Amino acid sequence: MLEVRNVTKRFGGLTAVNEVSFTVNEGEVIGLIGPNGAGKTTLINLICGVYKPDSGAIVFEGKDITGLPPNKICHAGISRTYQIPKPFEAMTALASVLVSVLNGKKRSHMSLPDAVMEASYYLEFVGLFSKRDTLARDLNLYELRMLELARALATTPKLLLLDETMAGLNPKEADAALDMIWSAQEQFAVTILWIEHVMKIIMKATKRVVVLHYGKKMAEGPPEEIIRDPRVIEAYLGVRYAQNL
Ligand SMILES: Nc1ncnc2c1ncn2[C@@H]1O[C@H](COP(=O)(O)OP(=O)(O)OP(=O)(O)O)[C@@H](O)[C@H]1O
Ligand SMILES: [Mg+2]
Repeated sequence: MLEVRNVTKRFGGLTAVNEVSFTVNEGEVIGLIGPNGAGKTTLINLICGVYKPDSGAIVFEGKDITGLPPNKICHAGISRTYQIPKPFEAMTALASVLVSVLNGKKRSHMSLPDAVMEASYYLEFVGLFSKRDTLARDLNLYELRMLELARALATTPKLLLLDETMAGLNPKEADAALDMIWSAQEQFAVTILWIEHVMKIIMKATKRVVVLHYGKKMAEGPPEEIIRDPRVIEAYLGVRYAQNL
């Protein structure tokens, strides 16, 4: 479904993503892990068109999308959430999702009442319907993350890129978020590329993991193999994690 081919992105002298290649197959949930600053978010920004790669190519469903603007990539069927939620602070939860509905693929012709119905559906799906008139700035972190998910789903993506959806959530909220993502995958048949530091979640949710380190792909494989890979333990997980396996 998605092919990342030898993609490189530099910021001045820093190579944030260095000749990275991997594929995402339709229907799978694939994990993307690595230490802080490894280049994970940059990779998502490259796939979504926020940045243009310095070299390499990104191919989605057989179409070269390298360097296309974010709105075109969204219309091709790729959507993302942000590591730090980026709500429209002064808009209500409903209006925020409405923006996604109206900007999503082939939806701009929709009448406003239909679009409101559609937006309400996604809010209801993530459990935020009762907060529809609440301003985004008044939502708590869990609610903001669910709003991010609703906004991403409302563009009707085929591929959903999640950037640390669990960060800052307490264990109960993280469980609820995981359930929500699973039902989203089922209900909307989305393929998921998931950046996550919580290894327990990666172990539960994914069957394949790509590890980045200093912008390079260090390893790739099933999570149960990845957590035993000495290079990954050394660079990311730490010896203490490995001893507790
Ligand atoms: N717009 C930018 N300008 C300059 N440097 C940047 C920019 N965006 C990212 N970087 C740098 O690129 C490197 C990779 O950053 P990135 O945010 O992709 O890491 P990450 O793997 O998502 O880390 P984290 O786990 O902390 O979110 C870092 O050294 C970061 O400082
Ligand atoms: Mg990041």
